[in-house]
Amino acid sequence: MNSTSEAPLLRVDRLRTIFTLPDGRDAAAVDDVSLAVSAGETLGLVGESGSGKSVTALSILRLVMPPGRITQGGIFFEGRDLLTLEENELRAIRGRRIGFVFQEPMVALNPVYTIGQQIAETLTVHGLAHGRAARARAIEWLRAARVPHPERRAGEYPHQLSGGLRQRAMIALALCAEPSLIIADEPTTALDVTVQAEILDLLRELRASLGLALLLITHDLGVVAEMADRVAVLYGGRIVEEGPVADVFKTPAHPYTRGLLACLPGLADGRRLTAIAGTVPSLGQFPPGCAFAPRCVDRLAVCDTTPPGVTPSIGVASAGRSVRCFLHQPEAGGRG
Ligand SMILES: Nc1ncnc2c1ncn2[C@@H]1O[C@H](COP(=O)(O)OP(=O)(O)OP(=O)(O)O)[C@@H](O)[C@H]1O
Ligand code: SF4
Ligand SMILES: [Mg+2]
Repeated sequence: MNSTSEAPLLRVDRLRTIFTLPDGRDAAAVDDVSLAVSAGETLGLVGESGSGKSVTALSILRLVMPPGRITQGGIFFEGRDLLTLEENELRAIRGRRIGFVFQEPMVALNPVYTIGQQIAETLTVHGLAHGRAARARAIEWLRAARVPHPERRAGEYPHQLSGGLRQRAMIALALCAEPSLIIADEPTTALDVTVQAEILDLLRELRASLGLALLLITHDLGVVAEMADRVAVLYGGRIVEEGPVADVFKTPAHPYTRGLLACLPGLADGRRLTAIAGTVPSLGQFPPGCAFAPRCVDRLAVCDTTPPGVTPSIGVASAGRSVRCFLHQPEAGGRG
């Protein structure tokens, strides 16, 4: 959408987040991850379970708990380096400038307060409205999130709402402080298909009317196709391919992206569903070379011994595309 030459709203630079395993070894759940989201843009972050999507999101918000920690990299948001901020400065950004929506609303919503109280409290904490005005604005945000009968629902507790309504309430809570960026981690995964479509419609509509940027985390490339401008594909904690959605879907460069796309139903060329054989390795179990090598049908000899670096642009007309794979490095025996 708005990929201009100005600095992006969010820039993650070579982020590394590690966990200390029960056996005492350190292992990177997120490694060398760089990404950028411009104002008003939607970046889809996609990958199978265990690929490091949530750890990336939590790292950006600096919510990774021990035994996890960020050991390298920079996170720049609205021109500030979040890794150098004090906790009180971060609190003024979390929920205010960056809103977040999680898969399971019960984690974010407090069970002992009504949803109206929680939205009003957020407005109050951030100094945006107080008392009666805050309560009135909470109802307006519930209305904006298309919660039916918002006056009545504002007085209800999270457990009184259906899954879809709880997710709408969490979206209202994430948006009420009018952030410039929303990080949504699998916002529709726990919902049934019809409600999923409604929530995606809502996010799309609010994104347009409020000019929001969105970091949308999902394991579903179908959601990426519908919602995102750009896509970053994560595997084994590393971004293996990145680029504009239309280009990546048309000419996927990384064997993992090709495998994910082959699993997507409804492809124009009628390819059959072919799940990628094998599973994402557990933390600390990555092979020494390319993390995807044990599952890769295209692997070269070098792939088993050496981790591939990033090729920053591929082919012709490849503006803004990058891939991490030896197939795109002629010096390693790839096609270039
Ligand atoms: N608190 C933790 N302690 C140890 N390992 C962790 C912790 N949190 C995540 N991990 C590991 O980090 C890796 C990445 O996990 P992450 O939750 O980011 O995956 P994900 O892509 O979000 O998967 P899913 O689609 O299942 O949500 C996994 O191997 C996971 O087991
Ligand atoms: S680097 Fe090698 S193993 Fe890894 S995805 Fe590319 S070809 Fe496959
Ligand atoms: Mg996750």
